[in-house]
Amino acid sequence: MRKHVITTAAIAALALLAVSGCSSRTAATSGTEAAAGFAKDATIGVALPSKTSENWVLAGGLFTDGLKAAGFKGDVQYAGASTTVKDQQDQISAMVTKGAKVIIIGAADGGQLSTQVKAAHDAGAVVIAYDRLILNTPNVDSYVAYDNFKVGSLQGQALLDGLKAKKATGPYNIELFSGSSDDANSKVFFDGAMSVLQPKITDGTLVVGSGQKDIKQTATAAWKSENAQSRMDALLTSTYGAKSIDGVLSPNDTLARAIITSVKAAGKPIPVVTGQDSEAESVKSIMAGEQYSTINKDTRLLVTQAITMVKDLQAGQKAPSNDTKSYNNGVKIVPAFLLPPVIVTKLNAAAAYANDPLLSPLTK
Ligand code: BGC
Repeated sequence: MRKHVITTAAIAALALLAVSGCSSRTAATSGTEAAAGFAKDATIGVALPSKTSENWVLAGGLFTDGLKAAGFKGDVQYAGASTTVKDQQDQISAMVTKGAKVIIIGAADGGQLSTQVKAAHDAGAVVIAYDRLILNTPNVDSYVAYDNFKVGSLQGQALLDGLKAKKATGPYNIELFSGSSDDANSKVFFDGAMSVLQPKITDGTLVVGSGQKDIKQTATAAWKSENAQSRMDALLTSTYGAKSIDGVLSPNDTLARAIITSVKAAGKPIPVVTGQDSEAESVKSIMAGEQYSTINKDTRLLVTQAITMVKDLQAGQKAPSNDTKSYNNGVKIVPAFLLPPVIVTKLNAAAAYANDPLLSPLTK
């Protein structure tokens, strides 16, 4: 996975896009399979995973409102917490039966949707992977997401910066956490972070106390906070009886807070802990000086971009993409439209959330 360079101009263009809600092809360089166009009030399916983080909760409401405002019949569904994969498969099949013209999918398990997306294609629907890539199928037309590799490299850099701010020189004791192995993003986040951290592990600046550096060892099943908390409890007992722990790479905010809970329960000082998603509780924690960093992946912009793609398809145009190299799903390279993530610490939180009515008050 290569790194993506997204300019300030692109950020400004996206902000404009979000405000105006208009269909823009400014950043488009190539597109996906052309659609013939379809009725302006067509059914658009949106299949989201279970609500493992606040961004998914926000996305559902934004899709419902945004698709309605654009004149479409939105059908927004979440997979349940227990039978997640089966729920989502059934929901997508039902969308196909209802004649959805576009199906937007935030995959519960990106490797287990081949049958459903094939049925969608056979019925003439366009399939857009939202936030998480759909793997091992030719039947996914587009991907819309924040730049996942960049998310990881920003997390890695934040961890290093936070450590240096506390103590000018290493070695620093750290531990690594990654996301759920059924989410294609988890590896990309981890690879991005390790692109920054691995050279510092190799030169001895960073020491992974437990020795657990492999993505299989660091994974957090189903992105569940209790799984991160129990792994952190075990690491503290096995490795940090006498030693201090200086930093923890956490792939998102839910897990960051679980890691901090574990450290507090063990009576240890809170290490530098990274995150992602700008969840309200984590923004509060950052302002209180506990969690060190998060990532702003403004859900409003991502949903707006996905709806822009739907509008373009409705008009018979190709869905825009700005990256046609990075996202190989095992069968094809899926044309992607990537948005730029923003690192947030206590230092820039007020500026980063200035236009966010929910988060801005938390930074005052
Ligand atoms: C998303 C993250 C989120 C995680 C758990 C990932 O696919 O990109 O933003 O924290 O899923 O919900």
